Amino acid sequence: MADLKLLSVVSEVFPLVKTGGLADVAGALPEALAPHGVRAHTLVPGYPAVMAALGEAEVAHSFDHLFGGPARLLAGRAAGLDLFVIDAPHLYDRAGGPYVGLDGRDFGDNAARFAALGAVASGIGLGLVPGFVPDIVHAHDWQAGLAPAYLHYSGGRRPGTVMTIHNMAFQGQFPPSIAPMLGLPPHAFAVDGIEYYGMVGYLKAGLQLADRITTVSPGYAGEILQPEAGMGLDGLLNARSNVLSGILNGLDLNAWTPGTDPLIPLPFDEKKPKARVANKIALKQSFGLDADPEALLFGVVSRLSWQKGLDLLADNLGTLLDLGAQLVLLGAGDSDLAERFTGAARDNPGRIGVRLGYDEAIAHGIQAGADALIVPSRFEPCGLTQLSALRYGALPVVARVGGLADTVIDVNEMARAAGVGTGVQFSPVSAPALRGALMRTHQLWQDKVLWRKLQKNAMATDVSWDRAARQYSHLFRSLVAERAG
Ligand code: ADP
Ligand code: GLC
Repeated sequence: MADLKLLSVVSEVFPLVKTGGLADVAGALPEALAPHGVRAHTLVPGYPAVMAALGEAEVAHSFDHLFGGPARLLAGRAAGLDLFVIDAPHLYDRAGGPYVGLDGRDFGDNAARFAALGAVASGIGLGLVPGFVPDIVHAHDWQAGLAPAYLHYSGGRRPGTVMTIHNMAFQGQFPPSIAPMLGLPPHAFAVDGIEYYGMVGYLKAGLQLADRITTVSPGYAGEILQPEAGMGLDGLLNARSNVLSGILNGLDLNAWTPGTDPLIPLPFDEKKPKARVANKIALKQSFGLDADPEALLFGVVSRLSWQKGLDLLADNLGTLLDLGAQLVLLGAGDSDLAERFTGAARDNPGRIGVRLGYDEAIAHGIQAGADALIVPSRFEPCGLTQLSALRYGALPVVARVGGLADTVIDVNEMARAAGVGTGVQFSPVSAPALRGALMRTHQLWQDKVLWRKLQKNAMATDVSWDRAARQYSHLFRSLVAERAG
């Protein structure tokens, strides 16, 4: 099997910079692809955290002007990844997150910041770095959406392009006035190019012009062909459904293995799930909850946003308390939701514990100590927290959507008879349906033998990247073969 060179183009990568699952995927996929003969380099913007992590680096190219200032393309390694980093201080050297400033608002020049990402990706694709000319350019989400467009309009010999959708809710739309800045030919601003209802659409451009489109679960690949989940792009996706597929994410087992996890109080594994109890006790203590060993402890690790459906859980806290259950929640995001949960914690000390903000260690602690993890998402392209939950033996209670439906086996009668259940699904995504799921979970909790069996099933689930890596490798190779032929 000949080696294949891949350029992964992405706006965040774990552990250097992360706002969500996109970073996890970008951080784990290169290592998973290596055994399949795919050599991945990752192109990321040179935010301060990335520049700090990048030790010794080579200057692979210098730009006199890159969207408003001089810049350098650096090549180096960090956190086990082969990186290309765009060192462009005028675009990336600033306080805040990768997309928003300290005031929580999108940076005003995001159009230029991520056009630069696409343009440099295209440059590398066309041979800017003679030592690394990729066979495939793999663009993740809208921030990388212009990479396939620049390559498409380059007109010359180019690598194959794959556009992966991690979330249709973020599409990167900008006013038409930015079009001239992009340096694409004028005819690119058209319905068969980068134009989208009179705007410039970065995700739209990638979906229109990439050779292949993937998304992060087969379930979501089906859902986005319909108006609700397609969010305006379903028409385009239907027209291109012959090149669309869903490849389910895996979990980074280097970061998420309960037997070796340095972030949890007591390591445990499938064979010794009892050691989990120490983690549950420690978790409850750290959230100030009553010891109450018989109480079912629910956990949540999430962004607080409409997508994640946590308002439905807030509506159900009465039910949860009536069942005698407890809740620990770690969340960052919408202040309204945050206030609802902190208010509930204040009113129910010992029963509900809440931490606001983003904290890796607490996230691991919840997966290791909670009995069940609630994920009531309105839509979920894949979802990674339910995968960690399976791996750590916290039974996932999930909305039956997207990747959640693809990864959790509901303990229905037949699953129980066959001994294969790993969690609880509910549908539709509504407060009453979630109420039913909480009650059903509580019923299962009463049967300790059954619960232990479900926990074992969950922990034995193969959530590794290997299956996905094989599928990506196959997709990349078939694209290379098609373009050669
Ligand atoms: P999304 O990318 O839509 O937020 P995913 O489930 O794919 O959802 O990925 C979320 C990732 O971010 C997981 O690695 C999860 O552990 C982590 N995460 C989410 N919220 C928090 C938080 N408040 N603190 C720490 N980690 C979090
Ligand atoms: C997005 C999605 C999430 C998915 C992640 C990684 O953030 O919301 O469902 O798991 O990308 O693909």
